[in-house]
Amino acid sequence: MEHPDTDALRAGPSRRVLITGAGGQLGAALAEVFAADDVLALTHDDWDVRFPPRISLGRPDLVLHAAAWTNVDGAEDDPQGAAEVNVGGTTHAAELGAPLVAYSTDYVFNGRKGAPYTESDGPAPLSAYGRTKLHAEAAAGESAWVVRSSWLFGPTGHNFVRTMLRLGAERDEVAVVDDQRGSPTFVAHLAAATRELVNGGAPFGIWHIAAAGDCTWAELAEAIFDEAGLDCRVRRITTAEFGAKAPRPAVSVLRSEKGAPELPHWREGLAACIALLRERATS
Ligand SMILES: NC(=O)c1ccc[n+]([C@@H]2O[C@H](COP(=O)([O-])OP(=O)(O)OC[C@H]3O[C@@H](n4cnc5c(N)ncnc54)[C@H](OP(=O)(O)O)[C@@H]3O)[C@@H](O)[C@H]2O)c1
Repeated sequence: MEHPDTDALRAGPSRRVLITGAGGQLGAALAEVFAADDVLALTHDDWDVRFPPRISLGRPDLVLHAAAWTNVDGAEDDPQGAAEVNVGGTTHAAELGAPLVAYSTDYVFNGRKGAPYTESDGPAPLSAYGRTKLHAEAAAGESAWVVRSSWLFGPTGHNFVRTMLRLGAERDEVAVVDDQRGSPTFVAHLAAATRELVNGGAPFGIWHIAAAGDCTWAELAEAIFDEAGLDCRVRRITTAEFGAKAPRPAVSVLRSEKGAPELPHWREGLAACIALLRERATS
């Protein structure tokens, strides 16, 4: 396996780090965690990654590629559109010529293993989104850390935690899927683990980095209401009852067999995220 040139990657104010998708939930967390470097944080408006950059972006020392089409159900209707962002975008990020962190997903697996997936398990995506992300992994090239994570949430953007906080304040009961199991991962924890991976000189290749512990969406919803002190019941339903457009893996817990940086338990991530949201609401 290829090793990065660790001299060029020395952390600090002279390391030029380019972040794509900086307006997204992970991109925003990366910009905070890498703030001690010389960061160029590009939002969708700054660079539409479906196309090569219109202006020179200089020669970054490191690219953190967080831009993506993340609408899993929407990708079923427009797989070509999703591929243009996910595969085309990753190709363009890799073409910048710097070591790349490309983020991928537990949805590259079909979930039928019934046990946690490690880096050597064979992918078999069920959805159009999962297929574009698997192709994107290949497009990342040889000088890339492909970081697979799962069920991301943070204080900004679209995510399950923020949706449940809104619904829990409006309703007495919500119906939530109870037959999909994964590891809900706080973006700040994933961003910190990314820095640890890169700064630690880990070899390029696939890395599974997700929160410790696992749960179903219904269990996560209950934990959110508990943590936020919301009086809302969770009615447990099946994937079939929910009827989402895209098929999703039943068990897509990710674990590392390669000694990837370990993340705190998802409940810790949830508590930290809700504390941050409270802080922001009162400041
Ligand atoms: N969310 C999850 O549960 C999850 C789980 C596992 C892995 N991942 C992976 O983790 C990474 C980060 O995901 P995230 O949750 O932070 O997603 P996110 O919040 O949806 O952020 C993605 C960002 O990419 C931007 N984007 C979309 N199309 C673009 C384009 N053509 N050019 C440039 N930027 C574009 C979006 O901007 P607009 O909003 O303006 O379109 C958004 O700011 C992705 O690779 C995703 O596949 C996510």
